[in-house]
Amino acid sequence: MNTEAKGKKVRTLGVLTGGGDCPGLNAVIRAIVLTAEREGVRVQGIRNAFSGLIHKQFTELDSSKVDHLLQYGGTMLGSSNRDNPFQSMMTIDGERRAVDVSETVIKNFHEAGLDGLIAIGGDGTLIITHKLTQMGLPAVCVPKTIDNDLMATDVTFGFDTAVGIATEAIDRIRTTAESHGRLMVVEVMGRNAGWIALFSGLAGGADVILIPEIPFSLEAIVSEIRSDRSTGKNFSIIVVAEGTLQKDGEVVVKRTVDDPTEPRRLGGIGNVLGQLLEEETGLEARATVLGHIQRGGTPSTYDRNLSTRFGVHAARSAIDGNFGHLVALQKGLIELVPLAEAAQGQRLVSLDSDFIRVARAVGISFGDEA
Ligand code: F6P
Repeated sequence: MNTEAKGKKVRTLGVLTGGGDCPGLNAVIRAIVLTAEREGVRVQGIRNAFSGLIHKQFTELDSSKVDHLLQYGGTMLGSSNRDNPFQSMMTIDGERRAVDVSETVIKNFHEAGLDGLIAIGGDGTLIITHKLTQMGLPAVCVPKTIDNDLMATDVTFGFDTAVGIATEAIDRIRTTAESHGRLMVVEVMGRNAGWIALFSGLAGGADVILIPEIPFSLEAIVSEIRSDRSTGKNFSIIVVAEGTLQKDGEVVVKRTVDDPTEPRRLGGIGNVLGQLLEEETGLEARATVLGHIQRGGTPSTYDRNLSTRFGVHAARSAIDGNFGHLVALQKGLIELVPLAEAAQGQRLVSLDSDFIRVARAVGISFGDEA
């Protein structure tokens, strides 16, 4: 969908990063600014996701501020995964309430002299930005999330880095597992999709991989562990995605936050599972929760280059006045997918995916076969 900015010369772009931070965000910002500068277009950084548009927090960006950022994780603009302008939490008469401040966002956007917005984020950011474009705000989105669960793109930046970190962690945990003959449970991120667990578990030679898409039974895992023991193997590595459902169909919630869109922050299935397996098998178990280590630090080569491609294409699209899209990677090419389409659904691991088949072929259990 093109917006009212179509046909109008774009002189200033705003850029924001929304949702959890992710390796490669700074590389996207850098690519946008360097591309825009060469075209004579100014870039205003918007601080702390949509909060910066609610509270008018801007910072002028130029090449001198971004050129060194390629290899730095995090986001120089700050981010937030709980500042939805359609449900902004405020204290009114001593009571916390969700208030729709989207009109303020649109007003502040125009008052800041912005001609287009580039919003870099995951599913939450896509949905918010799509709604704002329906109110006339000209915007382009860039897909970000270590979870790799956005429907419209074959891959998001940040995923490759997270998988690399998780794989290295599994390699390191393996030496302790072997030395002590233990059950080692490694909990990785992945709220709704098990991509990180699947890719790192396969690369790290896990014995069991548990993902939200495949319900598991404790008996099946125990039987896998016992069969390994009967062949003389003295340890087992179990990789579990944080969003994997327990027997009762519930996820393990670490905390709840003041966020009406998604208050649950996950974490803890690794410890729950480690304890259950210890009780069932009588073998010593340990759980390691990788948590935010997967989101931090320097982006991989793949993510730096994907981020740079996304940033350049997003900037070009916006400079041309072509708004209402997500820049996406499809079959190796960068394509523009309408936001109405891109903001729908989640890309989950397909049960007949080749990765699942290959993993089963080399003896990895998904906890679904007794
Ligand atoms: O969506 C990315 C993600 O890293 C999820 O895998 C995880 O559940 C969530 O963010 C954690 O968010 P927070 O940083 O608020 O704990």
